[in-house]
Amino acid sequence: MAIRPGDNFPSLNLVDPNAMPERIFSGKSSIALAVSNASSSVSSSVSSSATYSTQKSIDKFKISNSSFASIVEKYFQIKLLEKIADWPEFQAKAGEVIEIPVQSGSVRRIYLVGIGDAKPEELRKAASAIGRKVKGQEVDLLSAIATNKNSIVNTTVALVLSNYFFWMKSDKQPKPITFHILGDYESELKRASALASAVWRARDLIHTPSNIKNPQWLANEVKRLVRKVGSTNFKVVIKSGKQIKEFGGLLAVGNSSPKPGPRFIELTYSPRGAKKFPHIVLVGKGITFDTGGVSLKRPYDMMVAMKSDMAGVAAVLSAVLSLSITKPKVKVTALLMCAENSLSATAQRPSDVIKHYGGTTVEVINTDAEGRLVLADGLAYADLNLAPDYLIDVATLTGAASLGLGKQYAAMYTRDNRLAKELSKIGDEVGERVWHMPLVDDYSIALESDVADYNHVADKHNFSAGSVTAALFLEKFVGNRKWVHLDIAGPARSETDSGENIKGGTGFATRLLTEWLARFN
Ligand code: BES
Ligand code: MN
Ligand code: ZN
Repeated sequence: MAIRPGDNFPSLNLVDPNAMPERIFSGKSSIALAVSNASSSVSSSVSSSATYSTQKSIDKFKISNSSFASIVEKYFQIKLLEKIADWPEFQAKAGEVIEIPVQSGSVRRIYLVGIGDAKPEELRKAASAIGRKVKGQEVDLLSAIATNKNSIVNTTVALVLSNYFFWMKSDKQPKPITFHILGDYESELKRASALASAVWRARDLIHTPSNIKNPQWLANEVKRLVRKVGSTNFKVVIKSGKQIKEFGGLLAVGNSSPKPGPRFIELTYSPRGAKKFPHIVLVGKGITFDTGGVSLKRPYDMMVAMKSDMAGVAAVLSAVLSLSITKPKVKVTALLMCAENSLSATAQRPSDVIKHYGGTTVEVINTDAEGRLVLADGLAYADLNLAPDYLIDVATLTGAASLGLGKQYAAMYTRDNRLAKELSKIGDEVGERVWHMPLVDDYSIALESDVADYNHVADKHNFSAGSVTAALFLEKFVGNRKWVHLDIAGPARSETDSGENIKGGTGFATRLLTEWLARFN
C-alpha cells in the first residue's frame, strides 16, 4: 500500500494553435471550448473573441476562442452555435456543459462549457465542470477554455484539481489524465503547474490516514519530497526527543503518543543571494490526529475529520517545495510542528502547567485546544532565533472560525493592514479567500491565569470569540514581528464532492502561500 504524495499528478502539455489541425487534434480524445454571454462586456473575455452567429436565437452566445472555433468547425464539419441551438435551456451560465459526440481520428467529444461573464470564479467553475466530465477516464483533453494569460492559470489549476483522487482501494487505480492546453502560455502553464501540483501534494498528505502518517512518517515524507524536487537550495533538520526538550507545548501534546513522539521539522529554502532577500518564516500546525486528548472531543462524530488536523503543515510544506519551480527572491524557513493529540497515560491533563520555548508558562485548561500549544513553540522559536521579516502561521485551529465564516473563507489575523489587503487580494484571485478579522485587545484579559503567565483557552470573563482569543494567545509568542495567523479550520476540508474538491482535505492556503511567495521578485 504505497501512498506517495504527488505521484498521480496529471500531465500538462501546451499545444500550438498555429500548428496544422491534424497535429492539434492528434491523439486527443476530447476538446473543450468556452461559451460566454455575448451581451456581457467583461474585458477579460473579449481579447481574442468575436461574436459570430448563424441564427437569431443564438445571437446572445459567443465562443471565447473564435479562431480556434473556426478550426474546429472546419475540421469536424459542424456548426458549434447551431449545436447550442439544439439546447434551448442552455444559458452559458458558469459550469453548464453541452456534449457533442464526434468521430474523427481519436476525438470522441467536443464540450462547450458556459463561463457566464468570465469572472475568475466563473472560469474556475467552468474548468472544474469539464475536469469532472473526464474524471477517472483515460483521456487526453484539449482545453481552449482560457483565452488570455490571466485566465490560463486559474482554469488549468481548476481542470487539474477537479480530477484529484485518493486511492487506497485494492483494485486498479484510475489512470492519470493528460491535459493539453491550447495557446502560447509557457510561463503561465509553469505557474499553474506549480500551484496545482502543490495543492495535489497537500491533499495527498491530508488524505493519508492517521495510522500511517504519524509525526515520524511526516518527517520522512519531508525528506523524500525534498529529494524528489531535486534542488540543493533546501535543507531539512528533524528534531525529536532530547533535542526538543525546550519545546514544552509540542512535548506536552505529542507525548500523549510516545511512539514515535512529536517531531520539530525545520525546512529551509535558501537560494543564491538569500542573505539580501526577505526572510519569511511559515509555521504549520501538524496534528496528525486530534482526539482532543483527555478532554476527549465531542460529539465523537467530529473526530473522524481530525486526520485533517495537519492541513496547516501540508499547505506550508507544499508551498515551500513549490519554490523550486517559481524561484522567487526570498529566503523561507518552514517550521512544521508535528504531533499526535492522543488519549493515554502519558497524555497531558487539564490543569497542567507547561513551559514554552523561550520560557513563557501556560496553564492547560482543555487538552483539545492543542494546536495553539504546538504553534506557540514554533512562533517563539522563529522570533528568538530566525529574525523573520514575515512570520505566518497556518492552522486548523478553532471550530469558532468556521462558525463565524463558514467553509469558504479562512480567518486571517494580523496588525499589518497592507499585508492583509495583499493576501485578501491574492486569495480572491487564486480561489482561496481569507477574511481580515480583528485582534480585539479588550479580550486579552481572558488569557490571565492564577498560576501561570497565561491560560491557553481564554476561560476568563466569557468573551466567547474563540477564534479571536486563540489568535490573541498566539500573538503572545511573536515578539514584534510582522505576523499573520491563518485559521483554516473551515475551508481546510470539504464535506462535499463537487467543483475543485472531493470530500476531505482541500489543501487550502497552499495556493495563497505559493502565489504570495512567487511574487517576491
Ligand atoms: N482541530 C480542532 C479545531 C477544528 C474543529 C478544526 C473542527 C476543524 C474542524 C482544535 O484542535 C480544537 O479542538 N479546537 C477547540 C478549541 C477549544 C477547546 C477552545 C474547538 O475549536 O472546539
Ligand atoms: Mn483539538
Ligand atoms: Zn486540533
